[in-house]
Amino acid sequence: MVKAIQIGLGHWGFSWSKDVIPKVPTVEMVGYVDTNPEATARIQDELGVDAKLCFTSLEDAAKHTDATLALCTLRTEAHYPVVKRCLELGFNVLVEKPFTTTIAQGKELVALAKAQNKLLMVSQNYRHQPAPIAAADLIEAGKFGALNMVSLDFRRHGPSQGYRYWDMPDPLLADMSIHHFDLMRMVLGDEPKRLTCRTWNPMGSPFHFDPSGAALIEFERGTMLSYRASWMNTGPVTPWAGEWVMDAAEGQIVWSSRDHFRDKAGPDRLAVRPLDGELQPVQLATVAFPDRTGTLSTIAAAVDTGVIPPRFSSGEDNLKSLALVRATILSASRNGDWVEIEEVMQ
Ligand SMILES: NC(=O)c1ccc[n+]([C@@H]2O[C@H](COP(=O)([O-])OP(=O)(O)OC[C@H]3O[C@@H](n4cnc5c(N)ncnc54)[C@H](O)[C@@H]3O)[C@@H](O)[C@H]2O)c1
Repeated sequence: MVKAIQIGLGHWGFSWSKDVIPKVPTVEMVGYVDTNPEATARIQDELGVDAKLCFTSLEDAAKHTDATLALCTLRTEAHYPVVKRCLELGFNVLVEKPFTTTIAQGKELVALAKAQNKLLMVSQNYRHQPAPIAAADLIEAGKFGALNMVSLDFRRHGPSQGYRYWDMPDPLLADMSIHHFDLMRMVLGDEPKRLTCRTWNPMGSPFHFDPSGAALIEFERGTMLSYRASWMNTGPVTPWAGEWVMDAAEGQIVWSSRDHFRDKAGPDRLAVRPLDGELQPVQLATVAFPDRTGTLSTIAAAVDTGVIPPRFSSGEDNLKSLALVRATILSASRNGDWVEIEEVMQ
């Protein structure tokens, strides 16, 4: 059992307190922190959390609890200063995506975690779903041979689907695509080398920054991945993880994951199609702790046992997913010029 505090009880943080933490029996909550007293009052009123466990400062929570894990679910700009303070105070940390706003901040936190001998994990919850896990296993096992090209589409329509962050900078590439970028690396088992990207804001869009983008990403082993994504698409919505077609030497792997839309949730799907053959659905294994319960239970086990499992999204690993965010934004700012991942990692 790992004792934890949660910092950041806003829109998504409240959902962590209500929908996620209670489903992970290896975590015992000993504190909840938000600088806004309305947020701590809400978890007391709606979730019955004891007022004694609620704090308006991290320092107070650290002083009055014996937690070893800090779950940081604050708005993104607050990740860097708050995670830094958590590590200085001696906590292991699980932080929501996107890890940090810049690679330099991320690198500093990774170095600090190492110096403090603490675990630092980014909650890339999409990794803990049946379809991407099965796809990664198939690729790792060499199913259909070398990967040739991958196409990934993501479509949502913000204005009619409850989107509320109209003035968020890079609402697509920094906030949403980080999930897709991180999955690319996990599923391909490969690292990106260079890319080209264009973004745009369609006429009449309520977004202040570009909600649509297209990128071509070249991976180390030569796989080319074409990515098309938009918050302003009127077509049929895709699952949150997008629609994937992975084309290899002897066949294709087709999959989608996190098929949530409005109040409905569908299952993950994966099918294989041998060259010249029919599409064959594959039965997916059940994941005991899916999605956000997966990231929380994984870090709790790692803190408890000291054993780091495969595909653990450590802060260090996450720098390379963040690099895809920075490189796509940089390429888009240069009208689609090719950008080497190396350039943004320095
Ligand atoms: N994984 C996913 O699918 C997913 C989905 C939605 C949001 N998120 C992420 O969750 C994070 C939180 O998003 P949100 O929509 O809840 O933001 P929000 O702005 O609604 O809430 C942030 C909360 O943090 C509090 N806060 C800010 N600074 C603080 C500090 N220094 N100390 C303590 N509390 C502080 C604020 O008072 C607020 O209650 C973001 O990083 C976002 O990217 C992830």
